[in-house]
Amino acid sequence: MLKEEDLVCLLDSKKKKYLISLKKGKVFEFHKGKVFHDEILKRNWGEKIISSKGEELLILKPTLAEFVLKKLKRISQIIYPKDIGQILVLGDIFPGAKVLECGTGSGALTCYLIRAVGEKGKIISIDEREEMIETARKNIENFYQKKIGKIKNLSLIKKNLKKIDEKNFDRIILDLPNPWDYLFILKKILKPGGILVCWLPTVLQVFNLIEEIEKKFREDFELDGIFETLQREWQKREKSLKPKDRMVAHTGFLILFRKKFCV
Ligand SMILES: C[S@@+](CC[C@H](N)C(=O)[O-])C[C@H]1O[C@@H](n2cnc3c(N)ncnc32)[C@H](O)[C@@H]1O
Repeated sequence: MLKEEDLVCLLDSKKKKYLISLKKGKVFEFHKGKVFHDEILKRNWGEKIISSKGEELLILKPTLAEFVLKKLKRISQIIYPKDIGQILVLGDIFPGAKVLECGTGSGALTCYLIRAVGEKGKIISIDEREEMIETARKNIENFYQKKIGKIKNLSLIKKNLKKIDEKNFDRIILDLPNPWDYLFILKKILKPGGILVCWLPTVLQVFNLIEEIEKKFREDFELDGIFETLQREWQKREKSLKPKDRMVAHTGFLILFRKKFCV
């Protein structure tokens, strides 16, 4: 049976999804009528509910991608699930990994890292702005339905990257505009063979970063790839099968480096 505070995805007959947080006494209203939360609370995952205007809605547990796209409170630009997929795979984020994330922002990537490193892993996620840490905390608690202190593999800290005192990271992921300013720190705290993942929206930033590494950090980092991910969704309607009219095309570039072993 569903319970209060559960996050629920209601799927209508046109495959449109609505994400709501269940609360006794509340009403969900949309263009196809009303649904009382109390009625949803009497049901189980996978059951159906009919709105006041007769629309049938399927009750599903939201995926993390649905949560990030539809429910996560954004006070910063976020990394989209399509790009997070690439970060996790190309950045080789493995169970048990010790990962540094900077900056936390709204916590979209953090939500995925919690899963990817598993219970034996460790994520240190830092942001210099208090409101980012606070928003990320609420988003993470909202998705995982538990207090941040109970998420043992995460430390969410208000801190500037220049002040980081932990070291021996297996992976470092940066989503900030000027990663080249921190290379002198990163080379000390990333393990030899470890992977540095930088997320940058513009080509000029990508160029600056690689130039800086080639000029001053050639002994420390090896460029391992520059990637952009375009994802186009398709739709089937009666006799037609074609790409959707709208697509999120450019979001950013993923630049990967390996920390060299000392010789
Ligand atoms: C675009 S947001 C990150 C969004 C995040 N990846 C997400 O998916 O929600 C960039 C964040 O980097 C933080 N930031 C920028 N420079 C920083 C620094 N030197 N130290 C710590 N945080 C920094 C900013 O405060 C901002 O919140």
